[in-house]
Amino acid sequence: MKRQVRIGLFGAGRVGGHLLRAFDRLPEVEVAGVWTRHPGRHSVLAGRRDLVRRPEDMPEADVYVLALKDDAVGEFSRHLAGRRGLTVHTSGAVPSTVLQTRRRGVFYPLQTFTEHTEPDWTAIPLLVYAQTAEDTALLERLARMLTPKVFRVDDDQRARLHTAAVFVSNFTNAMVQIGEELNREAGLPEELLKPLLEATFRNILEKGAEAVLTGPARRGDIKTIEKHLRLLSEGGHRTEKDIYEAVSRWILRKFSH
Ligand SMILES: NC(=O)c1ccc[n+]([C@@H]2O[C@H](COP(=O)([O-])OP(=O)(O)OC[C@H]3O[C@@H](n4cnc5c(N)ncnc54)[C@H](OP(=O)(O)O)[C@@H]3O)[C@@H](O)[C@H]2O)c1
Repeated sequence: MKRQVRIGLFGAGRVGGHLLRAFDRLPEVEVAGVWTRHPGRHSVLAGRRDLVRRPEDMPEADVYVLALKDDAVGEFSRHLAGRRGLTVHTSGAVPSTVLQTRRRGVFYPLQTFTEHTEPDWTAIPLLVYAQTAEDTALLERLARMLTPKVFRVDDDQRARLHTAAVFVSNFTNAMVQIGEELNREAGLPEELLKPLLEATFRNILEKGAEAVLTGPARRGDIKTIEKHLRLLSEGGHRTEKDIYEAVSRWILRKFSH
């Protein structure tokens, strides 16, 4: 068997917690220690013997993974400034340059993680970056233990991809919530929208978004758009009206209406 990769994990939130479970299952990974500010808050840590009280008490590791809140990563990395191992963060938005360590990199899983759902790591793209070929190879080796979908992505590309991910995932979620709210206000049952949601995602995944877009803006139906804007305005939905208008403009322009 290949030499094990020793991991020092900082953070046990959504990403840290799921990574910890996944690392525990891998024979080629040894978790050297886990540090988090409030260990009592994270059920994933219950009964573990490798909890570390202070960041400086973390045993030596090959890779230190900082699965911390984005704006804490840079400052926190000072704790590891003198370490020989490679320090990575797991953020899509934060450049690797915030890490104040000798060797730095990124180990970014392109997925939405919650406490409620168990991720299928084999389906998740893992985007890795490091400054040297040797460190990149180390991160690729670690990433391939979790998923075959491993990509080398630099800071600039990752920032762009992260912006794209916000549209595809977070904004889509927000749109669904707005739709659900309007449906509720009309006094209609929630399940009415579900078949539409399912078909929309299935069509996008099977045929591509551009090919399957429908609706008033796609058809250039200005009368219906104006009617919807009036309804939103009368219902006191100012922000939703602005969103409707902005997205409709984007579609009208895209399809040359
Ligand atoms: N959630 C996702 O879908 C997702 C996907 C890909 C990448 N990411 C990235 O992964 C990283 C972690 O995200 P997450 O969703 O796992 O966040 P999270 O669930 O909120 O967990 C954040 C962790 O950061 C710790 N923390 C917060 N402020 C801190 C500070 N000032 N000093 C030290 N530790 C601090 C928290 O500690 P305590 O709980 O002990 O207070 C917790 O362990 C972020 O960089 C995020 O951008 C998230």
